[in-house]
Amino acid sequence: MENRPQWGTRAGFILAAVGSAVGLGNIWRFPATAYENGGGAFFLPYLFALLTAGIPLLIMEFTIGHKYRGSAPTSYGRLGQGKSWIGWWQVTIAFVISTYYAVIIAWAMSYSVFSFSLAWGDDPEGFLYGEHLKLAETPGDFGSLVPGVLIPLIIVWVVTLGVLFAGVKKGIEIANKIFIPTLVVIFTIICIRALTLDGALLGLEAFFKPDWSKILDGSVWVAAYGQIFFSLSIAFVIMVTYSSYLPKKSDITNNAFITGFGNSAFEVLAGIGVFSVLGFMAKQQGVPVEEVVSAGVGLAFVVFPQIINEFPAFNELFGFLFFGSLILAGLTSLISIVETFVAGVQEKFGISRTKSIIFGGGLSAILSLIFATQGGLYFLDSVDYFINTFGVTLAGFVSVLAVAWFAKELKNLQAHANGLSDIQLGAWWRICLGVITPVVLGYMMFDNLRTNLTSEYGEYPREFLFNWGWTIAFGALFVGILFSMKRSKTDVVSSTSTGK
Ligand code: PHE
Ligand code: NA
Repeated sequence: MENRPQWGTRAGFILAAVGSAVGLGNIWRFPATAYENGGGAFFLPYLFALLTAGIPLLIMEFTIGHKYRGSAPTSYGRLGQGKSWIGWWQVTIAFVISTYYAVIIAWAMSYSVFSFSLAWGDDPEGFLYGEHLKLAETPGDFGSLVPGVLIPLIIVWVVTLGVLFAGVKKGIEIANKIFIPTLVVIFTIICIRALTLDGALLGLEAFFKPDWSKILDGSVWVAAYGQIFFSLSIAFVIMVTYSSYLPKKSDITNNAFITGFGNSAFEVLAGIGVFSVLGFMAKQQGVPVEEVVSAGVGLAFVVFPQIINEFPAFNELFGFLFFGSLILAGLTSLISIVETFVAGVQEKFGISRTKSIIFGGGLSAILSLIFATQGGLYFLDSVDYFINTFGVTLAGFVSVLAVAWFAKELKNLQAHANGLSDIQLGAWWRICLGVITPVVLGYMMFDNLRTNLTSEYGEYPREFLFNWGWTIAFGALFVGILFSMKRSKTDVVSSTSTGK
């Protein structure tokens, strides 16, 4: 019908979906999350979450995108009367995430260059907060723009928007076909080197040792589901957008399984690599492994530089490869997030793809400057936490309820997927999405609310969390509703072609 862009090959689509899924979450979030939530015992709730929520939701998003062939708001609008606001809400969440996700990639770019001279010296922590980020004293202060962050950030945006300008097949697909295999090769080299370090076994022992006493703890299950959602990029509607570019005849269910297991394989690989080097460092310093475990910014930009310093040989190369892998994993995810709102805006306002990239991508690039100021790290930390806790989780909950219970679409989606796929979905799929996932997500919301109403995240001042957390997370919902209220070109189209 309309000349919708299309993937060139099945492998291209799978690589792009895996590229979106494999991101910073695999490398710096998973290892520490697993370790803190029972080590080897965490694999049980993790696998359960993958099979009852992760893959079923991935199948749901793939099917919605394929069946309704539109960006997320259009697809949700076609799925059920008056449901496009859910798509807009999720698109707005994706937009917010893109603004700070880009900045973390920019840091990794700087650090890949710093690796050549081990520029962080023997105090990587002081270097990160002092010389590199020039971190403000008080959360909420902007200070000035930091050139050392600004310059790589510009490069990140040029690359990302450049790939999008080139299109779905010629841009996104080709970028992923180059970046993802490269990432796998680099990361395998890192892991082999890590495994052969003195002390690696100590780290692996700490990582895999099961602590079964935690298995009945609700927070461990919440952590497992949270990790799966973030890691598979579900409930960001990225997967709806990507699958809307699939040719009419495409296997859906099999693709979802490949994407889900591919992402988890990369996660376990990252856990092995990260804990091997942590074991090495613990042995060097003569301390137990638990003293060197960390996650997120601290793991990548403080602990890794320390480890690189102590490396027996080729420190610079190892550093370059590690930060290079962060850049590749991050860029392919960022591309998918930006595509999500670029596609939404393009359809809504009936403008060209190029214009939509300039307006949508440009606005995100401008707003990302907030995180390149001296106060950037505080803003980033708070926005990241709140948009994930009260954006992604809540929107995921609402979208499952809308599809399963209000639109009662599960049976139709199941029939659509089964008509195309080798693997046939049975009642288990509807039970996972209609019962298990809503119950777990509902409990997560309740648990998150309770935690955040009784304590201040990160011990930040309340006013700061209000401005840079609550307002942004719930603002996304508000903006999403506003967007859906204005009638758009595609609404007119969709009343004549329902995508059936
Ligand atoms: N799935 C990505 C990861 O594991 C995170 C991500 C978040 C990707 C949002 C796209 C959008 O890091
Ligand atoms: Na991931």
